[in-house]
Formats: sequence, structure tokens, C-alpha cells
Amino acid sequence: MAKGPYSETVMDHFMNPRNMGEIEDANGVGEVGNPACGDVMKIFLKIDDNNIVEDVKFKTFGCGAAIASSSMATELMIGKSVEELLQLTNDAIVDALGGLPPAKIHCSVMAEEAIEDALRNFYKSKGKDDSIVDEMKAKITKEN
Ligand code: FES
Repeated sequence: MAKGPYSETVMDHFMNPRNMGEIEDANGVGEVGNPACGDVMKIFLKIDDNNIVEDVKFKTFGCGAAIASSSMATELMIGKSVEELLQLTNDAIVDALGGLPPAKIHCSVMAEEAIEDALRNFYKSKGKDDSIVDEMKAKITKEN
């Protein structure tokens, strides 16, 4: 294959996105938009009673790097705990994709933000305050 700026993994996830779609009975939905490029990413989470990701799907209206980032993010999220989701940074997504061109890093940042937004909405749907997410993030930063 001709060598472009994208890794084969990025191309693969762009051409055959994993876990694309919606979850009807999702208990956490996150949405972010990037005003600069106009792209929008939505993440649907189904978290079980043990706080483990049972299912995750995404819908992204955006560039190829955003689609590949969302697809890879969902693969990395399945079976993870809520705490582990918060450690899923855009760097981890970019690494798993085999890199992204510098101008496309922001596309992976959208995935990280969409995950956090979905988690906030997960706690809100349980009638809790989403500041719990900030507390968990602060704890993770301290531990690392
Ligand atoms: Fe907007 Fe990629 S250019 S998310």
C-alpha cells in the first residue's frame, strides 16, 4: 500500500470502523464538538452494576482520524472499569493507532473528551453529582 501520513491501523479503523452505531438503552452518552473543524463525536456507554463497560458504540460526524480514533477508543473501552476509562487518554488512543499526524492529534482528543462526557452523564443518570469524575481524575493524577 502507498505510504501516506496514516498508519495501516488508522486506515483499517477508518475503512472498517468497529462498534459504530447507537445503544438504545445506554446509561451514559457523551457528545463533543470541535468548533474549529465542525466535527462531532458521540459515545454511547452501557455500564453494568459492577461499573464495567459492557458495551460501547460511537457515532462520529467527522474526519477519518476522528472516525479511526473513536473506533479504536471503543475497542480499548470494552470490559474496562469506570476508573480505567478515565485513564484512557488521547495519547493511549494515538499509540494504539500507531500514531497520527500532528495536525490530527486534536481528533483523538475529541475521543478522550467524549468518554469523559459519557461518564459524567452516567453518574448524572444515577442521580449523582458528576464531580465524582473530577475526584477520580484527581486521584489518578496523584497516583501517576
Ligand atoms: Fe476535526 Fe479531525 S479534523 S476531528
